[in-house]
Amino acid sequence: MKVAVLPGDGIGQEVTREAVRVIEALSLGIELTEAAVGGAAWKATGHPLPPETLALCEASDGILFGAVGDPDCDALDRHLRPEQAILGLRKALTLFANLRPAKVFKGLENHSALRPEVSSAIDLLIVRELNGDVYFGEKGFRTAANGDREGYDVMSYNESEVRRIAHVAFRAAQGRRGKLCSVDKANVLETSQLWRDVVIEVARDYPDVSLDHMYVDNAAMQLVRNPGQFDVVVTGNLFGDILSDQASMCVGSIGMLASASLGERQTAYGTYGLYEPIHGSAPDIAGKGFANPMATILSAAMLLRHSLGQAEAADRIEAAVALALEDGALGRDLGGTAGTTEIGDAVVARL
Ligand code: IPM
Ligand code: MG
Repeated sequence: MKVAVLPGDGIGQEVTREAVRVIEALSLGIELTEAAVGGAAWKATGHPLPPETLALCEASDGILFGAVGDPDCDALDRHLRPEQAILGLRKALTLFANLRPAKVFKGLENHSALRPEVSSAIDLLIVRELNGDVYFGEKGFRTAANGDREGYDVMSYNESEVRRIAHVAFRAAQGRRGKLCSVDKANVLETSQLWRDVVIEVARDYPDVSLDHMYVDNAAMQLVRNPGQFDVVVTGNLFGDILSDQASMCVGSIGMLASASLGERQTAYGTYGLYEPIHGSAPDIAGKGFANPMATILSAAMLLRHSLGQAEAADRIEAAVALALEDGALGRDLGGTAGTTEIGDAVVARL
């Protein structure tokens, strides 16, 4: 089992270190190889996604990713910015399905931005499309007729892209509570109208799943009003980016949300994928030793489950995280005092 480890920038370094310690503590014989990505890679090689990093990822069974983003790079041309590394990996490896589960861990009900009786009902999965939308459309700057500077980013989805993510979402719903909510903005956007039409077509293959549709503004509101109503949410790249950050605060902290990005490629042990916390590089707290590594540790569990066929080991990590939280291994993001390595220690000790 080969895993590429790409810590990236800012707190990506420190949180990934803890997730690696957790994987190593399981002694599963996984070969972990580190490579540079993001602003760190740009500084070292002049490119945020060096060819050797991409080659290592291609030759691995899965990728553990930290975070990218570095204020030193804000003035660079877009194709050299750290974010292009993660966007480039998702696209080059056709990782089109991003799974972002959100569930309140026992004992964290009081840390949610929502009232405990509202937050404790959260157990949802956001299935975010990752290879299309306004993220990958034509973009640029131009001059308007009146001489104004203008920026533009084209939003589009074709039916195959919608169909393949819809299938992932319906299958996920079958394995959960059988409810799927498709989020769009079909009252305004043609892209969303097509999205909705195609999701309805795909629904015919899944008579056992109940499907409804919600406009994204309403979904944002329902996510804080009554998040317990959601089981699986499927949505496009941009709406999924926004709603998953929002969902993270509903369960307590963005430092808790893991994610898996999957495509169709199979490994010898499961489905090839990239695993990352949904939070960013947080340059303001990088290197200070108090970033919460739980989201990355939970991403490592998803890696073991989906790409390496190690469901039992994944269960052990998730159980150890739950126990560590119950025993008070809370970072500052959750009102506690535990530092990054202390939280890693707490999880390793409970494996
Ligand atoms: C995420 C991040 C990325 C995204 C950034 C870093 C490009 O916000 O994974 O949610 O927008 O997809
Ligand atoms: Mg995001």
